[in-house]
Amino acid sequence: MGKSKNIDHFNLLKYVYFKTDTVSNKREIASSIGRYAQLYKDDVYFFIEDEIFKKKYMDVVYQFYRTILYNISDIRYAKLCEKVDNFYKNEVMDKMKKFYFYKKNKIKLARKDRIQKPLILEGNSAVTLKKIEEGTIDLIFTSSPYYNVRQYANYISYNNYLDEMSKVLKECYRVLDEGRFIIINVSPVITKRPGREFESIRYPIHFDFHNILTNSGFYFVDEIIWIKPEPSVSNRIGGYLQTHTSLSYKPNCITESILVYRKNANFLLDKNILLYKNKKVITKDNVDTSNCWNIPPANDKIHSAIFSQELCNRVLKYYSYDNDVVLDLFAGSGSFGVAAINTNRIPVSCEINKNYINYIKERIRDYDYN
Ligand SMILES: C[S@@+](CC[C@H](N)C(=O)[O-])C[C@H]1O[C@@H](n2cnc3c(N)ncnc32)[C@H](O)[C@@H]1O
Repeated sequence: MGKSKNIDHFNLLKYVYFKTDTVSNKREIASSIGRYAQLYKDDVYFFIEDEIFKKKYMDVVYQFYRTILYNISDIRYAKLCEKVDNFYKNEVMDKMKKFYFYKKNKIKLARKDRIQKPLILEGNSAVTLKKIEEGTIDLIFTSSPYYNVRQYANYISYNNYLDEMSKVLKECYRVLDEGRFIIINVSPVITKRPGREFESIRYPIHFDFHNILTNSGFYFVDEIIWIKPEPSVSNRIGGYLQTHTSLSYKPNCITESILVYRKNANFLLDKNILLYKNKKVITKDNVDTSNCWNIPPANDKIHSAIFSQELCNRVLKYYSYDNDVVLDLFAGSGSFGVAAINTNRIPVSCEINKNYINYIKERIRDYDYN
């Protein structure tokens, strides 16, 4: 009926709108009513003005807001839009507005020139990343330092650790291209007790990373759970198995989080994908259909917390294309860089520790340095 030009149909839609109680029906009708704005601008305007502030169902409000946006060149609709924005201060409407104007202004997504060769940057990545031009990285994958749990880390407090992570992520936001993904592998950690009479502290790092990432301008897309074989992780359950004392239960932690976020963009992901329209799509490979990935951890003589090639390969396959420039801001042994080269990507590897830098240089050939 939304396509009809008949005023009786329009009146009927309004009648049904008030008669129906289901949100989905109201939403569909609100959408159809919006289409009449081309012919009956005044009637639609007054209807929306009456209904939109009733705080009934947000799904319905969004449909009215959509109509307001499509008629915003009319001064009354523009004023109504401002009123609605101030009234609701709602993030969905905020995003709708940005998308609407981006599309209306027909902004083309341009791809800046990329670096052509693997690059190794030595030092604090919050500083070294400044050498990278804005918007020239296609994918970021990293595993953050695990607060003070490993021998290579020394932060004076957990807040200091989070502050340092924020500084690096702000740079990540700058260098990542619009609409592309940042993926971070983190898991809760526990620090050593200062003595038997004190309790150890367990930090749910991944929860805090959500805030740092969103404050930096990224938005949440997915959480992938990396599942490791139980014999490969530290045994925490032993005590309970001996005593079966309630409250002393400590399960073995066989999972880590792979946090998937996207850099804010005022367009759909399709626009990013369109830039690769000539790339061949492989349809006969194995696909992880769920967000649980079973992958054994990897070990290394030099670095105590390395990525397995399998984990890197999956991230590279699902979140980047051939010839993309991919960044690891805490590169450690350079495992991600190695996987990137093996899959025809160009890695940027940042690392603060001189020994690990030398190790990366051994593993990655033909690179630019600093
Ligand atoms: C969890 S490890 C990463 C291991 C890596 N995924 C691998 O496969 O080898 C974190 C690394 O970040 C490095 N690091 C810590 N803070 C850093 C900073 N601000 N800038 C650059 N590297 C840093 C540490 O030296 C450590 O090697």
